[in-house]
Amino acid sequence: MSLRCSVYIATSLDGFIARTDGSIDWLMQANAGVPSGEDCGYAAFMSTINTIVMGRATFEQVLSFPEWPFGSMPIVVLSRTLHALPVGVPETVRLFNASPRDLVAQLASEGVDRVYVDGGKTIQSFLADGLITDLTITLIPVVLGSGLPLFGPLDRDVALRHVSTTAFPFGFVQNTYHVV
Ligand SMILES: NC(=O)c1ccc[n+]([C@@H]2O[C@H](COP(=O)([O-])OP(=O)(O)OC[C@H]3O[C@@H](n4cnc5c(N)ncnc54)[C@H](OP(=O)(O)O)[C@@H]3O)[C@@H](O)[C@H]2O)c1
Repeated sequence: MSLRCSVYIATSLDGFIARTDGSIDWLMQANAGVPSGEDCGYAAFMSTINTIVMGRATFEQVLSFPEWPFGSMPIVVLSRTLHALPVGVPETVRLFNASPRDLVAQLASEGVDRVYVDGGKTIQSFLADGLITDLTITLIPVVLGSGLPLFGPLDRDVALRHVSTTAFPFGFVQNTYHVV
């Protein structure tokens, strides 16, 4: 399948993407120390993306932000429990209850060629289905001890090829991998 499914995410050193209650105060606090004008490659990454696929939990977190952060970027929200989007959500957002494989086939048929997959459980389900092609993981210098993990159980190993590592002077370490 030529459609690429990419991960671009920040984790604590011990591999959590949020606290157990979903909060990312530790990440906001770390981001506050990043020099202005430095985005750790986010804009360059986003310029290659046609659609963001995110889990319902990440979507709900995004809705709590003061502003919609994705402009006109098409968004797919995955959920088995939501039957309609909240009133006022931008028209760029679609709700899907589909397997990652069926969703990717649908997006490929629409001409999408690179998807940003976001949210821990969502990334795990795409990884388990062998759909993730590359990962950019930015390690934040904090140990949380507990929280929502980026990775979960798999029925086989996922071999990766290391592509690059950038150590930022403010302490973030960004690793990029391609799935073999
Ligand atoms: N550190 C970072 O850079 C970063 C980035 C993104 C998110 N986050 C944080 O991560 C937290 C959310 O992560 P998360 O692991 O809890 O979950 P998530 O992946 O955002 O959402 C999980 C939900 O997505 C739905 N879902 C996932 N796969 C599905 C599938 N194949 N089919 C149908 N529905 C599917 C389910 O919703 P239903 O329960 O409705 O069925 C599932 O409960 C938030 O607190 C967010 O702030 C952090």
